Amino acid sequence: MNPLETEIGGLRMKNPLMLASGILGSKVHSLNLIARDAGAVVAKSVGLEEREGYRNPTVVNWRCGLINAIGLASPAARDFAEELKDYTNESPLIVSLYGYSVDEFVELVRIFDSALPYLHGYELNLSCPHVKGAGLDLGMDLELSSEIVEELKRKTSHQVFAKLSALHDYIRLAKALEDAGVDGVVISNTLRGMKIDILSGRPVLSNISGGVSGPAIKPVALKCVYDLYKEVEVPIIGCGGITSFEDVLEFIMAGAKAVQIGSAVYYSRRIFYSLKESLIAFARARECTISDLVGIAHNSTG
Ligand SMILES: Cc1cc2nc3c(=O)[nH]c(=O)nc-3n(C[C@H](O)[C@H](O)[C@H](O)COP(=O)(O)O)c2cc1C
Repeated sequence: MNPLETEIGGLRMKNPLMLASGILGSKVHSLNLIARDAGAVVAKSVGLEEREGYRNPTVVNWRCGLINAIGLASPAARDFAEELKDYTNESPLIVSLYGYSVDEFVELVRIFDSALPYLHGYELNLSCPHVKGAGLDLGMDLELSSEIVEELKRKTSHQVFAKLSALHDYIRLAKALEDAGVDGVVISNTLRGMKIDILSGRPVLSNISGGVSGPAIKPVALKCVYDLYKEVEVPIIGCGGITSFEDVLEFIMAGAKAVQIGSAVYYSRRIFYSLKESLIAFARARECTISDLVGIAHNSTG
């Protein structure tokens, strides 16, 4: 028996470790490598048109993680769907979408549904903090976000997940999306931050500020998961600063059924393999499955 097996909103996974969106760019070869060990893979967010993103520098590596302002640089949806045709399907593939209106999201789903029959789900990017009108801005509009989920649930048979941010009024948003029929919520995307180069006296990123990821945001994301577990029934996927199997367990115990791993992939491409092996050892030593541990941190705190 595999002690790591899990299921989110009907999506069965060999383990709860998912690749977070945007990590490793838009090439299918990188996704295929990760899919061997990951429970699921989320592709980079795409919209209808190609996006160049911001000028370099777009990513800065600092003591406690990364700050990025890539600006959702990505190919057009149709081109990306072609690229994803070479996905090896060793674990479920989730396509992340960004857009500005209901119609755009509907069109995006139409493109991927017809091009990739083996696709498993969509993740709606309602939380990228550095693109005006999309991402985080969209998630601030509860009515529009709910309408998008409702409409997509009518249009596709695939799972629809929504990626939120700690910067949202995330309990209200998650409840609204749950009512709209979302299959699960991911929390959190990067949080806003910046870095200044003290020699030039200027902000390092061309966009001035960007999204902070990595260990710096872990306690914040963990608290979001803990809060949501008390408020919603839909599966929660934790994301933010996970670099060790202990981090994974904290998110699971706070109430996540699965987790996403982003920045840690930059430090080790073998991260999914090593996390998976450590979690198996932990589960065997405790004679439990990972699913037994979901939300147990609430037992002592009421
Ligand atoms: C370089 C980079 C690009 C990212 N691109 C996206 C993206 O396209 N869509 C998205 O929803 N999140 C994107 N993210 C956010 C990650 O998916 C993840 O939510 C965030 O980095 C927090 O997880 P981590 O601390 O494990 O990295 C990106 C993060 C980084 C560092």
